[in-house]
Amino acid sequence: MGQVLATVNMKGGVGKTTLTVNLATCLARDRQQRVLVIDLDSQISATLSLIAPQDFARLRRGRRTLSYLIDKVIRPYIPRKYETADMIVSSVCGVSGLDLLPGDIELYDEYVVSEALYKKASEGVDTKFGEVWDSFENLLVETVIASVRDRYDFILIDCAPGYNLLTRSALVASQYYLLPARPEPLSLVGIQLLQRRVEKLRAKVEPALNLDLLGIVFILSNSGGLFPSRYYNQIIERVEQDFTPDFIFQNRIPMDVNVAKAVDAFAPAVVNAPNSAGSRAFVKLAEEFVQKIAARSR
Ligand SMILES: Nc1ncnc2c1ncn2[C@@H]1O[C@H](COP(=O)(O)OP(=O)(O)O)[C@@H](O)[C@H]1O
Ligand SMILES: [Mg+2]
Repeated sequence: MGQVLATVNMKGGVGKTTLTVNLATCLARDRQQRVLVIDLDSQISATLSLIAPQDFARLRRGRRTLSYLIDKVIRPYIPRKYETADMIVSSVCGVSGLDLLPGDIELYDEYVVSEALYKKASEGVDTKFGEVWDSFENLLVETVIASVRDRYDFILIDCAPGYNLLTRSALVASQYYLLPARPEPLSLVGIQLLQRRVEKLRAKVEPALNLDLLGIVFILSNSGGLFPSRYYNQIIERVEQDFTPDFIFQNRIPMDVNVAKAVDAFAPAVVNAPNSAGSRAFVKLAEEFVQKIAARSR
């Protein structure tokens, strides 16, 4: 069964999507792992980092996106043609083993969710709306991936900024979460806020969550080289006081214009500009990622 990981940070623009798609690509291409990327952000950045917009448009017209699968969980009584496996785009960017479950700009309609859950709650005996909602939230992502989990070594879920229903559901379905962060004072606050939310989720969810932080990945904010400035080091030291070194990736991702530009080619930097500093950093990070997973599984 595949390991499920969510990439989360309540802040936007910190590098969640970039990390998810580059790491996934390295795992598939360099380590022959079977990897599925799931795009849970209605901004569909992960999707458009791996396939061209015209391909996405075609999939969306055919209703071949995650939105269909979410609707299937919300309204199970409607007959359906497709399963999760039918939605998956295989070997994206020409990388064998790298698959994508495309996101959608409209992942779900909150009104439809509320209505369906209300209906369910009012039909059940002694069922409280809150309980129906919680069990829906807990099972949503798990239900979507259940039938394909054993086809993958890793399922990487790219979450939206904020802390919405889908992010919570992704965390419940995950064994680990990855936390990309910029070494800036406010991102320290963001890390702590997220940790608190996760603890709250842990207290609420039954059966007990099997979820751990795999590590914080620092995405450096400067335009300089691979070495962080003294200022970054101070901030990173502050994070190191809160987390043991095990929970911080030693490899940091430098700012590199090749990483940002890769999106134009609808391929991650590690495919589009493999020799760039950013891509080399992702390759090394993937190595550390595999070591961390192995160390934790012992
Ligand atoms: N290492 C990097 N070097 C240069 N640009 C980057 C790097 N990481 C991310 N970016 C750019 O920063 C922006 C935000 O990154 P993104 O991964 O979309 O963040 P998030 O998913 O957290 O919102 C994007 O334009 C992306 O191309
Ligand atoms: Mg993103």
